[in-house]
Amino acid sequence: MNITGIKGMNDILPGDIETWQHLEEQARQVFGAFGYREIRVPVVEKTDLFCRSIGETTDIVEKEMYTFSDKGGTSMTLRPEGTAPVMRSFIQHKLYAQDPVSKLYYIGPMFRHERPQKGRYRQFHQIGAEVIGVDDPKIDAQVLAMLSHYFATTKIPDVALQINSLGCPECRPDYREALIKFLEQRLQALCADCQRRYTSNPLRVLDCKVPGCKEATIEAPAMLENLCIGCDTHFNQVKEHLDALSVDYTVNQRMVRGLDYYTKTTFEMITGSLGAQNAIAAGGRYDGLIKDLGGPALPGIGFAIGLERLALLLGEQRIAPPRPELFIATLGEAGTKAGFALLTSLQRQGILAEMEYTGKSLKAQLRRADKLNTRRVLILGEDELERGVAQLRYMDESSQEEIDLNGLESRLLREINSETNGA
Ligand code: HAM
Repeated sequence: MNITGIKGMNDILPGDIETWQHLEEQARQVFGAFGYREIRVPVVEKTDLFCRSIGETTDIVEKEMYTFSDKGGTSMTLRPEGTAPVMRSFIQHKLYAQDPVSKLYYIGPMFRHERPQKGRYRQFHQIGAEVIGVDDPKIDAQVLAMLSHYFATTKIPDVALQINSLGCPECRPDYREALIKFLEQRLQALCADCQRRYTSNPLRVLDCKVPGCKEATIEAPAMLENLCIGCDTHFNQVKEHLDALSVDYTVNQRMVRGLDYYTKTTFEMITGSLGAQNAIAAGGRYDGLIKDLGGPALPGIGFAIGLERLALLLGEQRIAPPRPELFIATLGEAGTKAGFALLTSLQRQGILAEMEYTGKSLKAQLRRADKLNTRRVLILGEDELERGVAQLRYMDESSQEEIDLNGLESRLLREINSETNGA
């Protein structure tokens, strides 16, 4: 029996990969201009890291982690997200000692054992960014301005930013109590999941998709109306800065994030074009996380973008694979030898060049050149070699000229380089 891939874990094939590379390249450019530097952390971490940061009562930790014991008996987990590993690394390597502000980004696979469907996978990829060391609301607004700018430059259609504030350890406990009291009076109307978690994680009830729960919580107290003065002022200033930077947003009081580390500003980028899995990026502030993980008391804020969801949105606008500059078609042994040497030399100089390796007819070689959408074809026949010439065909112009083999390589290089530099 053939071995196939694992459900919910996808191959990204040539043809699709160009879109992914474009999205990643744009992120590097945009984030680079905003002062972020890349960090790479392992895909596996000790399980405790995620339990302590994401929270024991979240769906991710309760149900979705790929956890196993390694040969030494240590409990390990395939990372379900990137923030906790990046903070672990930040603390471990004392990055705060190098610079009071760290701006980091990462690109890579994450793993959650969710029920696969369009836009939701078990291995998926995130582009994430984190700023550590600044609690000023300007940075919240700038993070969102950068994210909006990234979606504008990558031409992601139909994106709307929603923001909320989840308060802080000063105001959230009272709000939580008030919410639990409210839910207690409506327990019968809640689904079994919410009946179980309404005391351990009452905010999640506000986010439940079951219609009964939605209806029962319409009048639930909102965090925004119960913020302490510090959180309220912070949120108002974030909104002012967003207005000043012309970043559009709406406030969604019911937005609850699926990870426990958030404080104050939280946000999601929503698209109307993907059905149920409509969040293409999400994040927020996590001012207590670094201290909770044993590091200094430094604030943080960040987001992660779901790459599969962006690729789905851009699916219609495929990016063409790169066009070969030259296809070398050869006839006879001497032509093939000379062509192969020229091919390798050009490739070593960075020119995308192709040939047919298996001695096919000239017609078959030209067919393949056509299929690859090559710009030029160089025909090296034995007769031509004897005469010291070759035929150079320009495919877009349908023109052909006979050129001297002497100086052929430097002429090709000059021509191709001047075209690509001028382009
Ligand atoms: P998250 O909301 O769990 O946040 O995930 C962020 C984004 O990853 C989602 O909006 C979605 O686009 C994508 N995503 C999540 N799960 C899946 C899945 N199963 N399949 C496909 N895409 C998925 C975080 O992960 C936080 N670490 C974000 C953050 C960074 N907060 C602060 N800094």
